[in-house]
Amino acid sequence: MADTLLLGLFDDVAPAADAIHDLRELGVPENRITVMSNIPYTPKMLGLTPPRQWFLPFIALGALGGAGIAFFITYITPYLYEIHVGGQPLTPFAPSAIMYFEFTALGSMVMAFLSFLLQNRFPVLRKQIYDERITDGYIGVQTQVGDSLLDAAVNVFEANHARILNRESAKAYKSPGMMHLAFWGAVGVLALGAVLTPLLLTYRIVKIPWLDGMNKSPAIGYQEGPRRAEPEGSVPINGPVLIAGQPASERIEASEESVTRGQMLFDINCAMCHGLGAGGDGPLKKYLPEIPALTDTRIQDMSEDEIFLVITLGRNRMPAIGENLTPGETWDVVNYVHSLGATSE
Ligand code: HEC
Repeated sequence: MADTLLLGLFDDVAPAADAIHDLRELGVPENRITVMSNIPYTPKMLGLTPPRQWFLPFIALGALGGAGIAFFITYITPYLYEIHVGGQPLTPFAPSAIMYFEFTALGSMVMAFLSFLLQNRFPVLRKQIYDERITDGYIGVQTQVGDSLLDAAVNVFEANHARILNRESAKAYKSPGMMHLAFWGAVGVLALGAVLTPLLLTYRIVKIPWLDGMNKSPAIGYQEGPRRAEPEGSVPINGPVLIAGQPASERIEASEESVTRGQMLFDINCAMCHGLGAGGDGPLKKYLPEIPALTDTRIQDMSEDEIFLVITLGRNRMPAIGENLTPGETWDVVNYVHSLGATSE
C-alpha cells in the first residue's frame, strides 16, 4: 500500500466544503476524509454525513449493570449477612428503590461518558498529521488516497484554492487499531481489579487474618482498676433491679421532690394508658379496655414493693416498663401513685 496523506489548509469553510464535495465525487470514501478546525463546524456545513452515534446501547448496558449492582446490594448482601433492623423486611422497599435509582443513573452516566471516549477513538495513539496553522484559524482537510487517485486529489485541493498542501506517506501514520484494543483492555482489567479486589475481602472470599490484637493485648479494664467507695447515703441506679423476685434497692422516701419526679415520669411512661392523673382514661384505653384507674382502692391498698414489681415486670396485659426507668425512678413513680390516694371504688 503506497497510500499518501494529503493535508490541505483552507481559510474559509466554503472552499473546504467544495473540496470535500469534489473528493467525494472522485470516489474517496467519507471515512478517509478528516476535517480539522478550531471552530466546531457541523458535518452538515461541510457536506459530510454526521457520524453514526452509538450512545443508546451503551447507556442501556450501563443502566442494566447499575441495576445489577443495586440488586446485589439490596437483595444478595442482606441474605448473605442477615441483620433484621426495626422490624423491616430484609429488602425494604423505600431504601431499595433509592439504591436502584442511584445505581441505574450512575451506570448510565459512566457508560455514556465511556462510549463518548470510545467513539471518539480516545486516546489518540498514532502520530497525527497536523499543521499549527490550523490552530490559528485555517481549516484542515485531510484525506488518504492511493496512487491511482493521488493526482486527481491534488488537483481538487488546488482547484479549490487550498493555501498549503502537505503530502506525507501514509506508512508513518498507521491506524492504531491493536493499540486501542490493548489500551482499553488494560483499562478494563485494571478497573475490574480495582472493583473486585475490595469485594473479595468484603465478602470474605479471600480471608486475611486482620490484626485483632486489641482484645488480646494487656489492658486494665474498668473493673480491674482501683474503686472508689460510693458517697454515703447514695442510691444505686444500676446493678440488679430485683433479687430473689423482690426489689433489690431500698424504697425512696415519699418526699415532695420524689412525688414531683414521679409525676413527670408517670406522665411520660404510664399516662398513655392509665391517663393523666391515673384515672384509667389514657388514649390507649380504647385498645386495652382492661386498663384500670390507679386510684382504685384495690390498687391503692397494694404495697409499695408490689407496685414496684408490677412496673418492673408487667402484669397480664400491662407491659414491663422496667427498662425505661432506673430503680430510683421506679420508686419515684410508686410514690406518685400512692400519693394520689383512693378516690373511687
Ligand atoms: C400499654 C398500656 C400500659 C402502660 C404504658 C402502663 N400500664 Fe399499668 N396497666 C395496664 C393494664 C392493661 C393493666 C391491667 C393489668 C391486668 O389485667 O391485671 C395495668 C395495671 C396496672 C396496675 C395494677 C396491677 C394489678 O395488679 O391490678 C398498676 C399498679 C399499674 N398498671 C401501674 C402502671 C404504672 C405505674 C405505669 C407506668 C410506669 C403503667 N402502669 C404503665 C396497662 C398499662
